[in-house]
Amino acid sequence: MNIKIFKNSDEASQAVFELYKNKKEEGATVFGLATGSTPEKLYQLMSDSDLDFSESTSINLDEYVGLGSEHPQSYAYFMNQHLFRHKPFKESHLPNGLAKDLDQETRRYDEVIANNPIDLQLLGLGSNGHIGFNEPGSSFDSQTQHVQLTESTISDNQRFFSSEEEVPKEAISMGIASILSAKEIVIMAFGLNKAKAVKEMIQGPMTEAIPASALQQHRKVHVFLDEKAASLLD
Ligand code: GLP
Repeated sequence: MNIKIFKNSDEASQAVFELYKNKKEEGATVFGLATGSTPEKLYQLMSDSDLDFSESTSINLDEYVGLGSEHPQSYAYFMNQHLFRHKPFKESHLPNGLAKDLDQETRRYDEVIANNPIDLQLLGLGSNGHIGFNEPGSSFDSQTQHVQLTESTISDNQRFFSSEEEVPKEAISMGIASILSAKEIVIMAFGLNKAKAVKEMIQGPMTEAIPASALQQHRKVHVFLDEKAASLLD
């Protein structure tokens, strides 16, 4: 893992943005994208830049089950607000949270990934070590899956909803094997509440109890941290 530590999240996001610029110049066309507060600044920098994604493809990590793209807390809505309405892609893929047959939807999404091998996958990190919505215990062999969210994730995500009851309890997520199939991976983590997960991801044993520790087996992972998220590293 190639680990970079910055004074704050703005400086880290600027560095990730530079990496995206370089990868695009080198010919990357398929971008795996993530939601959450962590990549917001990166998306703002992309939106304000002269980068052109009109010939690129995006594939998002995950979506809540039960929320459609018009719902303000759906990840489809988030992506439109923060990036796609400013920088349209040729094709943008997200799991369909309203799919009637969720198993069929996971298979459809696996085909999308198989047909569009991901050049650069962006990840955030859950405070419990999850990536995408692959919660602790997820198999490292998992492809796209229908997942139940853990109590800790539901309570972390509650801040975006008016009550805990409104937070969806299920999601569709690219699996860990799907994530590891990307040619290159960028993971960003900011703030003290990520410090323990960051340490376990990088310096802990590779274990399904910490989904992000699976990244230790990938050849090309770039980790961008602020000082707080890096504060428990040896
Ligand atoms: C959600 C998403 C993850 C994201 C995580 C961290 O659970 N499914 O992809 O990485 O939250 O979110 P944040 O960046 O807001 O801390």
